[in-house]
Amino acid sequence: MRVMSVVGTRPEAIKMAPVIKALQAHPNMNSVLCLTAQHREMLDQVLEIFAIKADFDLDLMQPSQTLNGLSSRIFQSIDELLASAKPDVVLVHGDTTTAFVTSVACFHRNIPVGHVEAGLRTYDLSRPFPEEMNRRIVDLVSTFLFAPTERAKQNLLAERVSSDEIHVTGNTIVDSLRFMIAKIDDDPELQLSLAERFTVLTSGRKLVLVTGHRRESFGPGFERICQALSRIAERSDVELIYPLHLNPNVSKPVNNILGRARRVHLIPPTDYMTFVHLLSRAAVVITDSGGVQEEAVSLGKRVLVMRELTERPEGIEAGLAHLVGTDPNLICSKFEEVVEVSDETSREINQSVYGDGNAAPRIVAELAKSQGLRNRNATERTKSNMHVLGELATAGMRRASPKYTRRAI
Ligand code: UD1
Ligand code: UDP
Repeated sequence: MRVMSVVGTRPEAIKMAPVIKALQAHPNMNSVLCLTAQHREMLDQVLEIFAIKADFDLDLMQPSQTLNGLSSRIFQSIDELLASAKPDVVLVHGDTTTAFVTSVACFHRNIPVGHVEAGLRTYDLSRPFPEEMNRRIVDLVSTFLFAPTERAKQNLLAERVSSDEIHVTGNTIVDSLRFMIAKIDDDPELQLSLAERFTVLTSGRKLVLVTGHRRESFGPGFERICQALSRIAERSDVELIYPLHLNPNVSKPVNNILGRARRVHLIPPTDYMTFVHLLSRAAVVITDSGGVQEEAVSLGKRVLVMRELTERPEGIEAGLAHLVGTDPNLICSKFEEVVEVSDETSREINQSVYGDGNAAPRIVAELAKSQGLRNRNATERTKSNMHVLGELATAGMRRASPKYTRRAI
């Protein structure tokens, strides 16, 4: 089975890396990786750390790209590639422009799509924007819906997706996280070099790890977030590390407002290993990221989610994540509350709500199973076609061409 994975951004690469590795290791899978490179540097950082090489690189990122400009470039380029590479199945991840456009391009060409991280919903098209629309469309046109949690499956069932098409696998972020933690734990030299890079971690103060990049917070939202962070940094017992997203809509205002704040360290985006190290050392995580919410909870960390709504409510229900929006008063008051909770208390909470670290092999096993079914169906179809042809020949009629069904692969 020729499986083409298409990824464009940092989180897609992090969450697809274990799937790509599992595909490569499977004897019956021919794995092909295509990058739209919706992100460039941040994507390359991930591929390097996971030692993954792409087969095709469309290299489409432009500075300050627009959603429509990027979409039209992906449509054009991916269509040509689909025509020449002829994959049996295309895998996309999550809710990015890359996933949305690729899935629709496959639909136009009758190529089955597998959606990794299917079924996440806020039911508000403006939050997150435009991701809520993207993921709904990807789900609509997909043949394989790999839902990370039972709740995601229920969301899909409520939209009348057939249960045969939904496979609850866990979220592949847990596979990646565990892989990185094991890599760090097994390498004392690496631990030393990571520790040396962040001398601030030896200050005895509590590490507050921050990320933020959502479109719906551009402008006033980021100003409020920065106000909250500078108030938190007034405490003498904390150090804030904020790896800044390369989007100028994020990096410019945050640098302007927090560039000189004491105990706030604005740094370039780190590679995934470094970020996992920082996460594991954090006392509190403050973020609007989807992936970071899942990782923080999976490590038993308290996380303040700077959004009004989340499509990942499992962490909130578990009691480790807290929705705080972008209101500085709410962010600060929740921070004061959670920073006092001990690590031991947090660690007692269920940290496995997003998966058990075996999502990637489950996804590949489902694809392999479908191939087995396809082969069996093909044999049965041939047998029954022979039978029908025999009957038609007897009746002196021509056989009608079989109707395409997108679910039957
Ligand atoms: C995209 C995804 C979002 C995901 C996020 C992960 C969409 C609609 N949004 O948002 O769901 O959470 O990625 O980070 O797909 N840039 C660089 N170098 C990079 C990456 C970005 O310079 O390596 C700058 C460029 O100026 C680029 C801009 O960031 O034009 C925005 O990138 P884009 O992918 O359009 O949007 P994100 O906000 O990153
Ligand atoms: N991440 C990283 N380096 C950083 C910040 C984040 O490797 O400096 C990782 C993080 O561990 C998580 C992913 O990037 O797995 C999240 O990506 P992002 O927040 O850009 O996107 P989202 O998850 O919100 O779609």
